[in-house]
Parts: sequence; structure tokens; C-alpha cells
Amino acid sequence: MNAEILVLSGDGVGPEVSSEAVRVLQAVAAKYSHTFNFSHHLLGGCAIDQTGSALPKPTLNAASSADAVLLGAVGGPKWDNPQATTRPEDGLLAIRKALSLYANIRPVRVVPALAYCSPLRPELLDGVDFVVVRELTGGLYFGQPKERRNGGKTAVDTLEYHDYEVERIIRLAFEIARTRRNSVASIDKANVLESSRLWRELATSLSKEFPDVTLSHVLVDTAAMRLVMSPKQFDVLVTENTFGDILTDEAAVLVGSMGLLPSASLGEQRNRHGFQRGLYEPIHGSAPDIAGKGIANPVGTVLSAAMLLRYSLGLEQEARAIERAVETSLQEGCRTADIRQEGLPTLSTTQMADEIIKRL
Ligand code: IPM
Ligand code: MN
Repeated sequence: MNAEILVLSGDGVGPEVSSEAVRVLQAVAAKYSHTFNFSHHLLGGCAIDQTGSALPKPTLNAASSADAVLLGAVGGPKWDNPQATTRPEDGLLAIRKALSLYANIRPVRVVPALAYCSPLRPELLDGVDFVVVRELTGGLYFGQPKERRNGGKTAVDTLEYHDYEVERIIRLAFEIARTRRNSVASIDKANVLESSRLWRELATSLSKEFPDVTLSHVLVDTAAMRLVMSPKQFDVLVTENTFGDILTDEAAVLVGSMGLLPSASLGEQRNRHGFQRGLYEPIHGSAPDIAGKGIANPVGTVLSAAMLLRYSLGLEQEARAIERAVETSLQEGCRTADIRQEGLPTLSTTQMADEIIKRL
């Protein structure tokens, strides 16, 4: 297969982790006789610095024609001025919206060998394996109005959902559940929010189309508690944009490090190969405190690259090969600084990727 992959390495540790994921993809291409062409464009803070815009036109054009987009991370203290008119994060939100990537899929699987990294007791973690399906182009992030009033003294955000936005994400969650353990937890705040009552109503009526899948409704505060009390109960969780953002950072605590978790953002657009044109990024941020030191964990981005192969190129076997290589690397004691373990050497970003490539 011949694929055009756009790399938006972004800010902070973004360039370090994404270049390692590119090396892993190149190794896959060599091994399985594919040709992956990589192009690079600006997004986030680096784009603001060079062009004044967090999502420059050439970047959006390149994203709209690529087969898939691999993203590092955006943001950093340099651009954190609350008075700023444009922020790196605006670029990320704008590209998700412009490509209609409404579904953010965040798989969470505990690697037993890393149980020591989590503050939770190992017996709670053993066998944890769920997927958070986060709605990504609506909800509190995008609802209008979103503004300051009253001379800046009042701030407004709006949580708005249309029925079709809720239906398509819940439908996807049911479909994913069918490939797993047939259970969907729909997370809302229906005891308070009108948008959640719509969400719950639509989840209930859609569930009639999926009689083989068990649907439960869980209030988001309860879900936050259960995620750390008994995470094994979850199979597929589906939820509003902001709720999903918060719950997946919490979920990272189960796995042991933010640096380990991948994500895929998917929509309805198809690429030249007839697969979904997606955007793939680790769930972690730009980690300015460790940027440039070569110590960031590349695993979240490498696993995102595996999701890219699966969803945007239909290369399931190759995706599995990467996932297996990551898993055996971790099982066999490869450790970056965030998952440092007494008695084992601490690897750099590049050394970690080398270990993964060696096991492909
Ligand atoms: C994430 C990040 C982003 C989000 C930020 C950087 C805008 O936290 O992908 O989870 O909130 O969606
Ligand atoms: Mn987040």
C-alpha cells in the first residue's frame, strides 16, 4: 500500500514523540512492503509563531488531502497568556472540527508489568480493558455563545447538542461494544443537565437497535468514582466532550502514565483508500517541563500510529504487530523516565522506540 501521512508534530515533546512514531511506521513499511510518504506542517504554538494562526491554511489543506494525520502535542507556557487572541489549543480544536472528527476513541488497557506505576492496588487493575468513546466536535467545547460579557466580568460557555450529534457517537459506541464484551456505559449528568437528558433519551432509544448490547446509564460523578474503585466493570464508555476529556486523564492513572495512552479521532470523511480519514494523537499534552530532553515516553504516539494503520489504512495485521512489540517491550523491562523502575535502566525516547522496532 501507498499512503500519504501528514505529521503535525506541534509543540513541547510533540516533535520528539512523533518522530519516533514515524520511525516505527517506517520500520513497518519496510517489513510489510508498504510505502508511507510523510509530509510535515505546522499546528499549535509553532504555527502561531511562524504564521500568526494556530491552524494555518496550508496545514488544513494538507490534512484534508492526506490519508491520515499523526499529531504530537500542542501548547506550552509561552502561549499561555489569558489575554492572547489565539492559543495553540485553538488549532487542535479547529482541525478536529474542520475535518468533522466527532469520535475520539481512547482505549485503556492495563499492562500487568506496569502495575507498580499506578497508585491503585494491583488487584484492582488486573484485567482492566475498556474504551472511552469521547464526543469530540460538540458539547461544552463548541457550544455558542462562548464569550465574555459585562466588561469581562461574566463568562459564558454553552453545552449544546443536536440529536444527530448524540446519535452518531452513541451508535459508534454500540458498534464498538459488539466487537468487544457487548456492554456500553453511557455517561451523563442527566440529574442536572438538559443536554444530558437528551443524551440519555437517545441512548435508550438507540439501544433497541442493539438488543445484544447491554446499556447502562451512569452519572459522570459516579463514573469518575467507579473508574478508580472498580475499573474492571467497564467495557465501552460513551460521553460528552468535556466529560470524556476529564475521565481519560483519570483513566491514565490506571495504566500508570499519561505517556502510554493513544487516541484516534474519526469522522465520516473517507480517504483515497476508502477508509476513514483520521487524526491520531497521544492523549498527553506537550509536557513543556520535559520538552527537548529526549526523555518523553513515545509509547502513546507509537500506539496512536498503530491505530492509524488500523482505521485509516485497514492494516490490521501491521497495527497488531506494533501493539505486540510495545507490549513485549514493556513486559521485557523497557522503561522510560515516567515509568521508571528500580533495577532497570531508564531509556531515552529514541532508545524506547529502538526497542519497539527491534521487536516488530
Ligand atoms: C486532549 C487535550 C485537548 C482537549 C486540549 C489540548 C485542547 O487535553 O486531547 O485531551 O482538551 O481535547
Ligand atoms: Mn485532555
